[in-house]
Amino acid sequence: MTKKYKRTLVTSALPYANGPVHIGHMAGVYIPADIYVRYLRLRGQDVLFIGGSDEHGVPITIRAKKEGVTPQDVVDKYHSIIKKSFEDFGISFDIYSRTSSDIHKKTASDFFKKLYEKGEFEEKTNEQYYDEEAKMFLADRYIMGECPRCGNPNAYGDQCESCGSSLSPTDLKNPRSTISGSAPVMRETKHWYLPLDKHESWLRQWILEDHKEWKTNVYGQCKSWLDTGLHPRAVSRDLDWGVPIPLPDAEGKVLYVWFDAPIGYISNTIELLPDSWEKWWKSEDSKLVHFIGKDNIVFHCIVFPAMLKADGSYILPDNVPANEFLNLEGDKISTSRNWAVWLHEYLEDFPGKQDILRYVLTANAPETKDNDFTWKDFQARNNNELVAIFGNFVNRSLVLTQKYFDNKVPQLNELTDYDKETIKEFVNVKGLIESYLENYRFRDALKEAMNLARIGNKYLADTEPWKLAKTDMERVSTILNLSLQITANLSIAFEPFMPNSTSKIREFLSIDPIDWERLGQTDLLAAGHQLGKSELLFEKIEDDVIEKQIQKLLDTKKANEENNTEIKVAPQKANIQFDEFGKVDIRVGTILECQKVPKTDKLLQFLIDDGIKKRTIISGIAAYYNPEDLVGKQVCFIANLEARKLRGILSEGMILSAENADGSLALIQPIKEVNPGSQVG
Ligand code: 2FM
Ligand code: ZN
Repeated sequence: MTKKYKRTLVTSALPYANGPVHIGHMAGVYIPADIYVRYLRLRGQDVLFIGGSDEHGVPITIRAKKEGVTPQDVVDKYHSIIKKSFEDFGISFDIYSRTSSDIHKKTASDFFKKLYEKGEFEEKTNEQYYDEEAKMFLADRYIMGECPRCGNPNAYGDQCESCGSSLSPTDLKNPRSTISGSAPVMRETKHWYLPLDKHESWLRQWILEDHKEWKTNVYGQCKSWLDTGLHPRAVSRDLDWGVPIPLPDAEGKVLYVWFDAPIGYISNTIELLPDSWEKWWKSEDSKLVHFIGKDNIVFHCIVFPAMLKADGSYILPDNVPANEFLNLEGDKISTSRNWAVWLHEYLEDFPGKQDILRYVLTANAPETKDNDFTWKDFQARNNNELVAIFGNFVNRSLVLTQKYFDNKVPQLNELTDYDKETIKEFVNVKGLIESYLENYRFRDALKEAMNLARIGNKYLADTEPWKLAKTDMERVSTILNLSLQITANLSIAFEPFMPNSTSKIREFLSIDPIDWERLGQTDLLAAGHQLGKSELLFEKIEDDVIEKQIQKLLDTKKANEENNTEIKVAPQKANIQFDEFGKVDIRVGTILECQKVPKTDKLLQFLIDDGIKKRTIISGIAAYYNPEDLVGKQVCFIANLEARKLRGILSEGMILSAENADGSLALIQPIKEVNPGSQVG
């Protein structure tokens, strides 16, 4: 369904102000949103780009407690770090504000009140854990106890990080408050619920029937939520950090962070445009688009629309082009494990190279599935694409013009068939880029822009004007004119993606920004126009620079493993009967021979004297021992484990080893020598 709109309101997820932003945030949300907005502006459309920090919620209070500061201190610190990163990377918000602002508190509070007065909530009283010492109800994360599934004594009220089970606080054995350490008690508390079940039928129609064009990942997730059936969701919490519930009997209660955060989009619009904000939010002529990551889909496609509908005066989003996740070197990005490339650190290491990251993160954006960022790919895209194609073409065009035409745009003379073919190759570029961008396909749009550079690069390589310079300056003149026209086209095509680089190209060409509508034309520069001073557009990134980044990540991994070793001890397994243990025949054997199993990294082949005979056992311990160091040593092994073939070799038993939390292994040896075949028990 394509509708004609007069204006576009673009929002991007409000990041939590409890840590800086990283490449995952950028690739998933902010770069695509910024490309979209820049493009719409270039097309002269009326567009508003709203951003801000999400400053409420339990994790912020936990961080504050850990650091011994107030939650406001935490959000003040990270709000300014995040805001600066966005500015540095050219994310062109019309406003970047925050949910701890007074205007937000009032807007969110009024929003709740209106729904309350309209009778849009259900009130329910239930029992929840309460800390009598700290005198507060406990959010799930503030309760710890023993995991009922794996016995981990330090499981959280919402999740056990040892076995990954998702829990509710009442599942925990021996629960304790993380605030005071005391055992919490159950106490009644009242909350307000948004009855999503009552909104289900219009949501089904609106999403599943009217918005079949939404991205498959978004549509699919919505369908699965709707098919499972919606339930009332609490919009309040017992907490002392957030927007207070504006009712007389609600002391100590605040709006649930996911209720107030999306209202932040509205309050930030009000802050920017106190007199005209309503036309953006309440007119059917406005197109609302939310850029988010996949973990936010349910809130933006189901919960927030239900809130807007319950109010009754707001428009609903036209699209929610959510991205999947970006991983880093094969692992999930994690703030708590410091497994991330932080934007402020990137800029310290790669000053002035914002556009390179914008390029790589767009070229590799997780638009349809999770993707991986690797430093090698970053280097390859810079060196093989930006330097070798885009930069090489622009620089050659400029340098040759300087050399042969005194840095002035030369005449366009008669076109050859090859020139005409080349021009034909990019006449469609404008339409293609537009269509991709309008359908939120930013990778494909960037590919088209890059294709223009490829066409230019190939044109210069094929026509070789430097060879013709001695014989046919008329031809050289045409070739360089066309090359410069393509360069000028690149300054238009790349404008939404790499705004710093396009501004550099304009400086080199000594021109003002060219109207987007002229993309694809070959008369952008007049013959005789004096060009500016130029330098290399992009620079090669050397191996040592990349190695340094990889090493930084390896150091993080090592530090994490060391931390894990301290705290992680596998939980005890369930008890067994004595006779069950008696079934396992553990013995000591002496190693007679030991060698690596060919074509494997992990396996060693042992020949063991077991007191009766020689037996072969394969063990996955090669990473931790040199085979020759083991000959003559004694080890423990399970003698009666059924034999099985490993890599074609029959392994008759299992050699025992101890495993550290990081997975490293140590063989088990009797502390004084015994006869081979001695039983262990
Ligand atoms: O997932 C997050 O980082 C949330 N802070 C996003 C909130 S988006 C909007 F609702 F504000
Ligand atoms: Zn567990």
